[in-house]
Amino acid sequence: MTATIIDGKAFAQTVRDGVARDVATLATTHGIKPGLAVVIVGHDPASQVYVRNKVRQTAEAGMNGFHFELPEDTPEAELIAKVNALNADPAVNGILVQLPLPKHIDESAVVGAIAPEKDVDGLHVVNAGLLASSGGGMVPCTPLGCILMLKDTLGNLTGKKALVIGRSILVGKPVAQLLLAENCTVTIAHSRTQDLASEVAAADIVVAAVGIPEMVKGGWIKPGATVIDVGINRVPAPERGEGKTRLVGDVEFATAEARADAITPVPGGVGPMTIACLLKNTVTATCKQNNIDL
Ligand code: GUN
Repeated sequence: MTATIIDGKAFAQTVRDGVARDVATLATTHGIKPGLAVVIVGHDPASQVYVRNKVRQTAEAGMNGFHFELPEDTPEAELIAKVNALNADPAVNGILVQLPLPKHIDESAVVGAIAPEKDVDGLHVVNAGLLASSGGGMVPCTPLGCILMLKDTLGNLTGKKALVIGRSILVGKPVAQLLLAENCTVTIAHSRTQDLASEVAAADIVVAAVGIPEMVKGGWIKPGATVIDVGINRVPAPERGEGKTRLVGDVEFATAEARADAITPVPGGVGPMTIACLLKNTVTATCKQNNIDL
């Protein structure tokens, strides 16, 4: 058996098309243009690429994108003052502060300063708390992308055994909460889990978000399982020439593909879904702020 490859690039385009339609409807029926502010501190090259892509795709979806680049040595109080100004700006419906922040800044203080209704990253404790209790808050983008892909692939997730590998605030914890809300039986494993192989072997759904290249061996996968690989790890690729690298996920792809029913590739799987879900969250936030039911 060879798995179906879940095409995240194509699916992200479908999500973005839906966002663009919603943005057009908001303009014609309510005269509203959603606005997303993205703030980056410092010059981390990977973060700069992400932020540029976010701003470009915001414009392509017909929304206003506001991009702020602050110097590496920006004091925490100044960044929080910027967030407060964006909280008060009616043209801004969503705020994202790119992480990680420089070491001298307390990330949780900055994320905590974002108005929860504009927290399109879903990282504010109010939104994390809503996700862990009644639901209804903003949901983090990568976990939302994982769930959309799983539902598109499997339909109803009720009763499935889901294994989440990783316990980060950005991915592992929220994706586990979302799977629970879909009536899965959820196990959370992490880098200190003993006998990860047997946890993987029991799972109908594996979401790998541990950040360790090819940690999950393909031979562990239960035949017929669905695998969502959130990892994006750059590793040396001497076969491509001296000094060359390639991207791999947290799952050993070739061997997993031979056993799974469906699997996301790296790159081209979960990655493209994250920004698409950020745009979707910005529309959701705009509608909630204006009491609009699209
Ligand atoms: N850095 C890497 N991923 C993310 C994300 O989803 N949100 C933010 N704010 N920063 C990130």
